[in-house]
Amino acid sequence: MTAESTTRSPQLARARQTAMYQRASQSLPGGTNSNFRAWGDATIYVDRGKGGDVWDIDGNRYVDLRMGYGPVILGHNDERVDDYVNERMRLGVSFSLTSEDEVRAIELLKELNPWVGKARMTVSGTEATMHAMRVARAYTGRNKIVKFEGQYHGVHDYALISVLPNDMNTLGDADNPVGLAWGRGIPEAVANTIVPARYNNLDLLRRLFEQQGEDIAAIIVEPVLGNAQGIMPKPGFHQAMRALTEEFGILLIFDEVKTGFRFAKGGAAEYFGITPDIATYAKAMGNGYPAAAFGGRDEVMSVLPDKVSHGGTYAGNRVAASAAVKTLEILRDTDALDTIRQTGEAIQVGIRGRLDAKGLAYQLTGHPSMFGIMFTETVASEYRDWAATDHALYDAIAVGMHARGAMPEPDSREPWFMCEAHGKGDTVDRVVSIFGDSLDAALEARVRG
Ligand SMILES: Cc1ncc(COP(=O)(O)O)c(C=O)c1O
Repeated sequence: MTAESTTRSPQLARARQTAMYQRASQSLPGGTNSNFRAWGDATIYVDRGKGGDVWDIDGNRYVDLRMGYGPVILGHNDERVDDYVNERMRLGVSFSLTSEDEVRAIELLKELNPWVGKARMTVSGTEATMHAMRVARAYTGRNKIVKFEGQYHGVHDYALISVLPNDMNTLGDADNPVGLAWGRGIPEAVANTIVPARYNNLDLLRRLFEQQGEDIAAIIVEPVLGNAQGIMPKPGFHQAMRALTEEFGILLIFDEVKTGFRFAKGGAAEYFGITPDIATYAKAMGNGYPAAAFGGRDEVMSVLPDKVSHGGTYAGNRVAASAAVKTLEILRDTDALDTIRQTGEAIQVGIRGRLDAKGLAYQLTGHPSMFGIMFTETVASEYRDWAATDHALYDAIAVGMHARGAMPEPDSREPWFMCEAHGKGDTVDRVVSIFGDSLDAALEARVRG
C-alpha cells in the first residue's frame, strides 16, 4: 500500500485478520498474548517485518511507528543481529549454565553505562524492575517504593499501581494521590508498599520523603514519562530528585527499559547526566529479542548472590544474550543512534509544517527517537496533564494513519518509536504525508460532526 494523497478514508483489507481474530479468540483471551495488543475486531495479526516496515496477514503494509513498543532499535529482521543469533543458537540455547555470550553482553552493557558495577540478565523488563525493587529493599532494609503516576514498569504486582487510568479522579487528590491498582488480583498488602508521586513535582516528593522516608527503599522512575508520550523532565528535575534521594538515604532506580541504548549509548542516565543507584534495561538491548537486565553500583548489587533471590531458567539464554552482544556492539561502534535521532527530527519538521498550516495548538513531546504529539496549548509536565489534551483528535489521526499505511499506537499516550531503518528510502516522506492526510481527514470529519 502506498501513501494516499486524498483525505478520503481508505479501507484496508481485513478478511484474513477478521477470520484470525475469531479463531484466536477461541484460544487466547482477547485473541492475543497481551492486553495491550487486544484491539477488539481491529486487532492486527502480523505477517512479517523488514527494516522500518511491517505487513499484516492481509498484505497491508505500514511504516511501523510502534516497533514492538520500542525494542526494535535497528529495524525488523536486521541481518547483522539475526545472522549472529542464528550462528550462536546452533550451539544450543538453554543450559542453566553460563555462556561467554552472557558475560560479553553484560561487559558491553557496562561499557556503555560506565557507572554500572554489576548487572544480571532477565528475560523481560517486568522481571528487571521486579528484581531491581527487591535489591533496593534488601540493600536498604526498607519496604516501600515510590513510583510516579502514569509510569509503566511492567506487569508485576508492585508495578501496577497508578499506571494509566483514563479518569484522573481515580488517582485521588493532587496533593494526596492514592495508589490505584490496575485491575484485580493485586493484594492490598502489596499495593500498600507502593507510594504514588507525581512526575516533575518535587514539593510532593519532598513531603513524601519527610513523612515516610524511613520506610522508603527506593524511587523508581522512567526518566521520561514514556507512557504519556514521553513527557520530559523539567530542567533540573532529575538533579533535584537525585539530591533528595541522597538526603534521605533512598535509592534511585532509573527504569531505562524504554530509554536505555536509545536516548544515548548510556541511555537517559547519560543523556540527563544522572548517576542512579540501580537501572533496568530491556527493549533496545536486544533489537526485539527477549534480552533484559538490571544492574547497579557494586555496593548495591553486592546483596547478590548471597542475600537476595534472583534466578530464571531463561535468564541469559543464548538467543537473548547473543542478540544483546550484537545489538550493543552495533550501537557502540556505529552512528545508528545519530541516524535515529536525525530521522525523528526530520519527521518532526514535516509534522510541524502540517500542523502549523492548520493553526492548531500542539506540543511535540519526548526525544526525537521516541516522541509524541499532544494537542494542547501548554507543555504537559505529568500524567494528569494528558487528560486536558485533545486526545480524541490524536486518536482519529492515528486510526487514519493505519488506513493510509503507517502504524502508530492508536492510543495517544504511546510515543512513536524510531529505528535506524526508518532513515532509509522514502520513509520520512511517507510518514509525513500520511500524517498530513490523516490530519486533514480527522479535521474534516470534525467539521462534518
Ligand atoms: C519503562 C518500562 N519498564 C518496564 C516495562 C516492562 O517491560 P516488558 O514488557 O519487557 O516486561 C516496560 C514495557 O513497556 C516499560 O516501558
